[in-house]
Amino acid sequence: MRRVVLAYSGGLDTSVAVRWLMENHGVEVVAVAVDVGQSADASAESWEAIRNRALAAGAVEALVVDARREMAEEYCVPAIWANARYEGKYPLVSALSRPVIVRHLVAAARAHGADAVAHGCTGKGNDQVRFEVGTRALAPDLEVLAPARVWGLTREASVEYAAKWEIPIEVTKDKLYSIDENLWGKSIECGVIEDPWADPPEDIYTMTMITASDPVEVVVGFDGGAPVSLDGEALPADELITRIGRLAGSTGFGRLNMVENRRVGIKSREIYECPGALALVMAHADLEDLTLERDLHHEKARLEPRWSELVYDGMWFSPLKQALDAFMRESQKHVTGEVRLRFAPPGVGTAAGRRSPVALYDRSLATYDADDSFRHDHAEGFVRLWGLGVATWAARQGGRQPGTEALQPAMTPGPPEGGSNPAGGQVGSPR
Ligand code: ARG
Repeated sequence: MRRVVLAYSGGLDTSVAVRWLMENHGVEVVAVAVDVGQSADASAESWEAIRNRALAAGAVEALVVDARREMAEEYCVPAIWANARYEGKYPLVSALSRPVIVRHLVAAARAHGADAVAHGCTGKGNDQVRFEVGTRALAPDLEVLAPARVWGLTREASVEYAAKWEIPIEVTKDKLYSIDENLWGKSIECGVIEDPWADPPEDIYTMTMITASDPVEVVVGFDGGAPVSLDGEALPADELITRIGRLAGSTGFGRLNMVENRRVGIKSREIYECPGALALVMAHADLEDLTLERDLHHEKARLEPRWSELVYDGMWFSPLKQALDAFMRESQKHVTGEVRLRFAPPGVGTAAGRRSPVALYDRSLATYDADDSFRHDHAEGFVRLWGLGVATWAARQGGRQPGTEALQPAMTPGPPEGGSNPAGGQVGSPR
């Protein structure tokens, strides 16, 4: 092995990893920092500072890739199509960014003649799975190195290691939380959050601080299942996600406090802030209620959890995920229209209204008013045939179902009206 491409974040662990790979594997390190929207945070460091740190740590080359639009269009939009919520809750914030990063790691490995890629994940999480399975799917010939899974350095030892090699990094003595951020939201783990009973401290929240005192409304426009406008203004997906996230987040909408099942068998307590993701999935699912035909809608609802599970489990690049993508894409043909969302502090979001030029909602069918066009005379025959099987079955048993004895008519002598048919009358009579 000569050259390794490392997924670089600018933090302590990946900075130490640069030097550690050089010392322990004798390789050159190309550091790749991928901007998936974490830079939106006001406290975020400049990419130039991050790049310089990688070089100071010893990298032969340090690249910064702006992948915000790609992440929004090719990863967040398909997640919206699938109404993606892992275990019914988590909109896959970190899980969605890993395949984006993997693509750029592999591209950099090709461009710089590397024979391996590396990441800074430990052995306890999902992210290692996503990096490694993703890399093997795109580039089976590349090796994958996971130095943090091998080195066994405590945080203190890492700080010392960085000091010894004069890696310019400011670290607080105790890192309070493990945070991962991108334009789809923010994942917060560790520290006091590890007690699932404890309230998360208010100071962990940055995207959902309540600054609005009144409810806010916004109209999201969709075209073929993809969000394309806010209040009539056309926006590229990355800007739209960030903008609606700020709006919804200002009312405190978008927090999740949950326990989830990791792929590696650990249950973990997680806090997420994902106002934009939750707002868009809510709006999209609501528009599907208006525009999807019933059977398609129900079948899609069965496949959605599977899509989320695959993405969570690191199977973004896999045959089943690709096949489900084709289904999801096809299902979105007519998911076009607008949803009016309302957010009210503290943190309540609702779809207040929806409309579509291709709505399957037909007021003249649904109304109870005089201009009703529904054929009431068709209902009787439909309902009778719908229940024919049940009526026949009930007749064979004389109508006696467990727990309904008290409903039977008083015994009368002689055969019931209708001859030998135990149901009597016409019901269930196969004439
Ligand atoms: N549990 C979440 C997931 O598996 C969040 C992971 C956050 N990653 C991190 N390095 N802090 O997707």
